[in-house]
Amino acid sequence: MPNAVVVGAQWGDEGKGKVVDVYTEHADLIVRFQGGNNAGHTIVVAGTRTVLRSIPSGILHPTKVCLIGNGCVVDPAVLLEEMDRLRQAGVTFEGGRFLVSEDAHLVLPYHQAIDLARERGRRRIGTTGRGIGPAYEDKMARVGIRVSDLLDPEVFEEKLDYALEEKNAYLTRILGEPPVEKAPIVEASARHRERLAPYVANVSVVIDEAIRQGRRVLFEGAQGSQLDVDHGTYPFVTSSNTVAGGACTGAGIGPTRIDSVIGISKAYTTRVGEGPLPTELTDETGAWLREKGQEFGAVTGRPRRCGWFDAVVVRDSVRVNGITGIALTKLDVLGGLPRVKVCVGYRYRGERVDLVPSSLKVLAHCEPVYEELPGWPPLDAEQRAYRTLADLPAEARAYVEHLEALIGAPIILVSVGPGRGQDIHIADPF
Ligand code: IMP
Repeated sequence: MPNAVVVGAQWGDEGKGKVVDVYTEHADLIVRFQGGNNAGHTIVVAGTRTVLRSIPSGILHPTKVCLIGNGCVVDPAVLLEEMDRLRQAGVTFEGGRFLVSEDAHLVLPYHQAIDLARERGRRRIGTTGRGIGPAYEDKMARVGIRVSDLLDPEVFEEKLDYALEEKNAYLTRILGEPPVEKAPIVEASARHRERLAPYVANVSVVIDEAIRQGRRVLFEGAQGSQLDVDHGTYPFVTSSNTVAGGACTGAGIGPTRIDSVIGISKAYTTRVGEGPLPTELTDETGAWLREKGQEFGAVTGRPRRCGWFDAVVVRDSVRVNGITGIALTKLDVLGGLPRVKVCVGYRYRGERVDLVPSSLKVLAHCEPVYEELPGWPPLDAEQRAYRTLADLPAEARAYVEHLEALIGAPIILVSVGPGRGQDIHIADPF
């Protein structure tokens, strides 16, 4: 039974929302398995742009079931606000088509206060400031508050008391911030409890039953593999396992249930926040890519750092995720450049390096080794149908083929514009 995981193969913002939206047609259930409202998945349908933060991208398809797995962290206020916004656009959540895992951990106001205070300090990561890291810290420290706790006012308050004692000591004495008050959290929790209760479920069981009935599941990753807490450019990472293996722990399914892993990669590279980006372009080409690719954060609006395609990074992601097919996005953005460069390896103190080094100190001194290819004229997917690779200018086709040879995984989809239909389908992802 074909179930697929979709993951970002770079530093996030690869266009997962769009690709999940495209593949959702073939799936019955769409499951988020990690991250929280730090993600911003942008989908354009009939010219209307929708940004989803916690809710799986499949929600815009009225017949699909969308689930938030136990590996996610949920800010109830943000989730309910997102649901309200989607309801206004005609989306429905009833009838079991949207469920949240009872085991997912809550993001509460003190998490955000800690995240923001740390970001004002010396060791800033450039987080999204949504409290994601501190919420995952509590999960691992076994002091987190889960969705199931929210449903029980007594348990919630008891756990909150304990948390606030610790957090307020940390906030006031270490971070020099004001304490977080209990009353507004308790007050909000009553509203959140009432409104979220109908959607809380054991998501692992729902997925298992669906798979047994022969239904197809698409696991939707957030962020990107280089932001994985184990495999990314630590400590400049998010706090969850963004790689495909995270789908097992974060949704409550075994690895035998996954048939394919689709990696999403831009035709160039971007990153938001601090941390290494070996192919970064700080010149006018970088600014040009940012403008043309509209590279500004979907959640925070921050300008994204832009650079050439880095095959070392994507190869690394192919390995750690077991990627079976790559969806290459934003190829159109490169159109109009006289020449395009691809990083094929690094040079460190005269030696060739073909892996992303674990040490950031080493990575900081890695010089990209580039190959240069001829550019192509701007693509206009609005006016011209690019249905097959053969419809593309020869140079763009050669670029795609070159990337495929470098990364060691087949390119199964090429996206040439933000909207539905502006894609070249090469192979079935399932
Ligand atoms: P956090 O996830 O908010 O803790 O942020 C940690 C790092 O992950 C920062 O560099 C963020 O910019 C990055 N990050 C988190 N979510 C996303 C995303 O959806 N796209 C790109 N980068 C992200």
